[in-house]
Amino acid sequence: MYKIKVSKTQDSRLPSLDFTQIPFGKVFSDHMFVADYRNGQWEDLRIVPFQSFSMHPANMTLHYSQTIFEGMKASKSVKGSPMLMRPEMHSRRLNASADRMCMPHVPEALFLGAIQELIALDHQWIPPADVEGSLYVRPYMFATDEFIGVKPSQTYKFVIFTCPVGAYYSKAVDLVTEQEYVRAVNGLTGEAKAGGNYAASLYPAELAKKRGYDQVIWMESPEFKKIQEVGTMNLFFVIGDTVITPSTTGAILKGITRDSFLTILKSKGIKTEARDIYIDEIVEAYLDGQLKEAFGAGTAAVVSHIASITHNDTKMTLPPVAERKIGNMLKAEIDGLRAGKVADTYGWMQEIKVPVTV
Ligand SMILES: Cc1ncc(COP(=O)(O)O)c(C=O)c1O
Repeated sequence: MYKIKVSKTQDSRLPSLDFTQIPFGKVFSDHMFVADYRNGQWEDLRIVPFQSFSMHPANMTLHYSQTIFEGMKASKSVKGSPMLMRPEMHSRRLNASADRMCMPHVPEALFLGAIQELIALDHQWIPPADVEGSLYVRPYMFATDEFIGVKPSQTYKFVIFTCPVGAYYSKAVDLVTEQEYVRAVNGLTGEAKAGGNYAASLYPAELAKKRGYDQVIWMESPEFKKIQEVGTMNLFFVIGDTVITPSTTGAILKGITRDSFLTILKSKGIKTEARDIYIDEIVEAYLDGQLKEAFGAGTAAVVSHIASITHNDTKMTLPPVAERKIGNMLKAEIDGLRAGKVADTYGWMQEIKVPVTV
C-alpha cells in the first residue's frame, strides 16, 4: 500500500462544468497525481490541485522524447458508482512501454492505487450515466534530467490527470492506404505507447487530410501490402461471417479495446481471426461483396466506423453504419459494461470506493 499525500484545492472548478458540452481533451479535473523517480525509486507521492510544471530548458524529454503514456476511461454506473475497465492492462502496457524506452516501471499497486485515489477524490467530474460521457484518465511518465547528451535519464515524473469527456460521436471516416510513410516497423517503437510515435504520424496524416481523407491506414514497409493500424486505433474487418484483425507482431500497439473485442466476439460464438492481413485480400473481398464492415478500435471512440477505404484507384465504400451488426454490437457491449447495464461476465469492471462524506 503506497501512502499518497493529498492537498485538496480550495477553489473547485466543478460548478462551471456543463456535462452536456465538454470539448474532448480541453477540460481538466480539479486534481492530479504526481510522483518523482530519483535514486532508483518513486518518491513524494502526492495528489495536488491541477497545475502546470515549470521546466528546465535542458529537460531531456524536450530533446530526446523519453516519454510514454496511457489512456483509459472511468465511467459512472447507473447506480452512480465510479468504475474502471481493465486498469491492470493499462498498468502492464505502461511498463512494457517503459522497458522499450529505458524508463523505470511503475509498480502495479502504485499505478492502480494512485488512479483509484485520484478518481475517488474527483469522482464528481465523471459525467452521470445518462449523459453518456466518461472521465478520460491520462497516466504518463517523462524524463526530468537536465542534461544535453543522449542517454537514459536518471530521474522521471509519473503523472495522472483526468478530463471529463462527452459522448464521442464521430462520423464514419474516409481512409486512404499510406504507401510512402510508415508508423512503425518491427524492432522500432510502434508497440510502445511512446510520444515520438505520435509525432511521426502527424505529417502523413496531414498530407492525407489535404487529399480529402480523414486518416491513413498504416502498412508495413517496404512492400506496403500488409495492413497494420488506422491512425491511432487497431483495425477490424468483417469479411463474410468472420471478424479479422491484424496480429500484433511487434509493430502494432497491443490495444486493450482490440483485446476486449476479440474476447467478446469469441464469447458470442462469432468467428475471429488475428493474423496477417494484406490489402489485396480486402480489395478482393470488397469486389466479391463480402466486405461487410471495417472499423477502428480504441479507448476514445470505442468503435470508429469506416465509411470508405481508398487503395490506389479503388474506392471501397462500405454499407451504411445502421446496417453494421458487429461494430454496433461491440460498441453497445462496451458502453453497456461501463454503465453497468450489461452484466460483467468477463470480470473487467472495477468499482472505485468513494469515501462517504457527512
Ligand atoms: C497507435 C494506437 N493503436 C491502437 C490504440 C488503441 O488502444 P486502446 O484500445 O488500448 O485504447 C491506440 C490508443 O491507445 C493507439 O494510440
